[in-house]
Amino acid sequence: MTRDVTFVVFGATGHLARTKLLPALADVVMNESVQRHALVGIGSQERTDEDFARIVHDSLADAGIDASYRDRFFSGRIIYRSVSDAASFETVATDVDTLEREGGLSGNRVLYLAVPPSRLDPTVEGIRTSGLGSGRGWNRLVVEKPFGVDLESAIASNHEIHRAFAEHDVFRIDHFLAKETVRNLLVFRFANSLFEQVWNRRHVASIEITVAESAGVDGRAAYYDESGAVRDMLQNHLAQILTLIAMEPPVEMSAEAIRSEKVKVLQSARPISHDDAVLGRYTRGAIDGIQVPGYLATEHVPADSTTPTFAAVRVHIDNWRWQGVPFYLRTGKGLTRRLTEVVVRFHKPPVCLFHTEGDCQGHQNVLRLRLQPDEGFELLIGVKRPGDDTEIGQIPLSVSYDEILDGAPTAYETLLADILQGDQTLFVRSDEVEASWKLFAPLLNRSDIYSYAVGTDGPFSANDLVTTDPGVWSAL
Ligand code: BG6
Repeated sequence: MTRDVTFVVFGATGHLARTKLLPALADVVMNESVQRHALVGIGSQERTDEDFARIVHDSLADAGIDASYRDRFFSGRIIYRSVSDAASFETVATDVDTLEREGGLSGNRVLYLAVPPSRLDPTVEGIRTSGLGSGRGWNRLVVEKPFGVDLESAIASNHEIHRAFAEHDVFRIDHFLAKETVRNLLVFRFANSLFEQVWNRRHVASIEITVAESAGVDGRAAYYDESGAVRDMLQNHLAQILTLIAMEPPVEMSAEAIRSEKVKVLQSARPISHDDAVLGRYTRGAIDGIQVPGYLATEHVPADSTTPTFAAVRVHIDNWRWQGVPFYLRTGKGLTRRLTEVVVRFHKPPVCLFHTEGDCQGHQNVLRLRLQPDEGFELLIGVKRPGDDTEIGQIPLSVSYDEILDGAPTAYETLLADILQGDQTLFVRSDEVEASWKLFAPLLNRSDIYSYAVGTDGPFSANDLVTTDPGVWSAL
């Protein structure tokens, strides 16, 4: 357990802080991961400490944190400061120092940057020059995604960060890594020798990774229009799932060993050619009978926006294990339903002994790892249909573990607890974030964007990417 810590949160009144971060901070205090704490909220707008305390209170109440735990969180000092220039950073540094000394805190600091990429470098510079990042205890920098807007900006931000912080004190967030089901991917692969035997090009025909969302971008359009599907999802969340699925076994379960294997996957990926990707943007349609306006008709989206809300990509990993196995990645907003899953399709039997007509299309074993919702997995097995003829059907061997996930910590709780422990396993290393940008940044300048109606599975043209059986994406 950490004895005491000061959380210094930049972007403390933003959407992410209110909905995820502040409740998770209260949770780590509630779970006694930390004995004593103080919270310093920082933003660009002028606010009083009382205004901020009210925001914190409402955020915890909205997250369903009950009154006694809210009181416990408020037992630590909570203050708010605005920053605009170098002088205001210095004032914050002095105030934080005073608050820690008066409160008998030892000066362990979590400097949490929930700010857009454009604010990252100036904020890190302000932290460095004011001494805010040099508390008397340990000082850990946490950076929200997206990290940078392209390869060049990510390299520049890493450079700026390393002027003030050693890499072992930098925690780049990708909250997908802390989801229980995503963490389970390595356990599934490396605690079950059954699957690892067949996890390679000799047995696997293709792998599909889907992160589909039915929701549109309402309420976050200003942020989203700057990001789009590539920056918001593909470069980070899907890239992370890809690395966990494709990586070699690490030499040990340490942060460095795991991250070194993950980065090799991205480094082995072939540059994505024009024909390897399809981008899309949703137009008007209905979800659950409710009409949703098209992306371009959404408030705060410019009518001439070129932002894609859907991306599908075929990735080739040119290494010993995966040569010749396509990885199909797709993500989008306004789709048929919310679903995150990995579908591993195995080769068909080399000889088709049982088929009566056509090919033995249906004789393919398929493993579906459902990461959310309805967490679990399913393995399709060929069986004989009852009757005189030898007709083959497929039945699923299904395992559901959504019940055992009841009460599991949220991704943000897990991440905060790890930051307090200094465990970087679930955070993205500097070379990893750069390798991912190198792979996906070429998609940023594409202007060929296909339309799809809200409530569908995305543009039909995305099926052109699927060159292996069954020749189309799995239905959502
Ligand atoms: C965020 C993206 O990182 O992840 C959002 O910015 C997306 O656009 C969200 O909706 C999905 O996360 P989750 O945990 O709700 O699946």
